[in-house]
Amino acid sequence: MLQHSIHHIEIGVRENGEEFVLELCKKLGLYRAGYRETVHSRQWLVRANDWVQLLVTEIRSSPPEQEQQNCAHSDQQRGKAIANDPYLVLWDQDVDEGGRPVRNSVFNVCLTVKDIQRQVERLERCGAKMEKPVTVMSDADGEVKVAMVRSCLGNVVHTLVERQHYSGFFLPGFTSIRRQDVKTDDGYEIRPPTPPRNRITHVDHVTFAVEVDTSQDIIAWYENAFGMKRFYVNSAEDDGEGFVINLPNMALRLKAFEYWKCAETGVSSNTTLHHHSNGDVGVNDDDDDGCNKLLFVIAESLKDSEPNQVDTFLKDHKGPGIQHVALHTGNIVDTVSRLKQQGLQFVDPPHTYYKEINGMLKDLNMKESVSRLEDLGILVDVEYGNDKNHGDKKAKYLLQKFTKPIFEVNTFFFEIIQRMGATGFGANNIIALWRSLQTLLQTEQQQQHDV
Ligand SMILES: [Fe+2]
Repeated sequence: MLQHSIHHIEIGVRENGEEFVLELCKKLGLYRAGYRETVHSRQWLVRANDWVQLLVTEIRSSPPEQEQQNCAHSDQQRGKAIANDPYLVLWDQDVDEGGRPVRNSVFNVCLTVKDIQRQVERLERCGAKMEKPVTVMSDADGEVKVAMVRSCLGNVVHTLVERQHYSGFFLPGFTSIRRQDVKTDDGYEIRPPTPPRNRITHVDHVTFAVEVDTSQDIIAWYENAFGMKRFYVNSAEDDGEGFVINLPNMALRLKAFEYWKCAETGVSSNTTLHHHSNGDVGVNDDDDDGCNKLLFVIAESLKDSEPNQVDTFLKDHKGPGIQHVALHTGNIVDTVSRLKQQGLQFVDPPHTYYKEINGMLKDLNMKESVSRLEDLGILVDVEYGNDKNHGDKKAKYLLQKFTKPIFEVNTFFFEIIQRMGATGFGANNIIALWRSLQTLLQTEQQQQHDV
């Protein structure tokens, strides 16, 4: 078991939280598993399984002025209540007159840690800003210690959870919702569980969109704060520069880092290897079918480049943050076709994409039918061994597909990914992704223009 792994990912929505949750459940095939309500907030836990947990938080508007005896005093109390709540933080500095964040944002990657006290001491030594001190929360199922640190990156925070002494379904203070208790108009939450072969299994990675020339400091922060390590996303990556894509209208770099447990774990048949920037080979502990990985990717624009998808995110999100979360599935063909049926909207690659990659696919011996992948618009990224020039027969690949942004603005989206031995992040597909997003943006701009 890794010391650091993802406990849940938090999505802040400014209004209509319940509708948002129902849509998310319906389209991603998730179910509501828990709920928490305070005077100032509502929170829903939605889940695919124990390894994919999303917490949706809505901050409530302050009561109307006429109900408040002393408005200023009440606002102050409200601020204090949110500050003192170990599970709540405002994810946006801009708030409306009711004190609610004005933007939706995915802002919290909550991490399970083995020893929270030691972790917090480490963070404090690094000068990290603790948003919430270590707090003990308990109920009939035991005790959990939680704290929250503000990262060096935009509005991203990390709630830390130490929960060895807790047997509850999520966290103290949350009420469990049993599947059979949930009945909605169309009954989608009481469908039979998704068959195991095409279900979402775990969070594969989380990608940050960051400002020009900041990736180095961000990686240094995560190395110091959490003992994470840089690794190469692709064999063509340069240590200092990262994996650089520098084409007209498409200039960005990718860098990745992971929680590294090399010294503490043995290599097993189920273990994936990443090549670290210092030449070492890191080991991902793949207990629990890879569910415990902690992988972060950074997408950074290059200086003086034309605006690209990273810049679009920075502009619409009003700063750096979590651009996408990749969910792993054991069968992307079935998963994507099910999610499409459920109404989840995806970005499709340009028609020329499959012609471009056709030659590459011939050597692959893929078990998936290329025409099926094309029907569904699933992207293929191939990784060769060290002997690319001699036609390595053991080429590995991954399959991926990106959703459209889940909010009204062009910020956060999900990725669905299936790894067939490949350990990268589809770096070669950035071009295809960029093209597909560009096509989308152009179509939308054209539509607006036509209107
Ligand atoms: Fe990704």
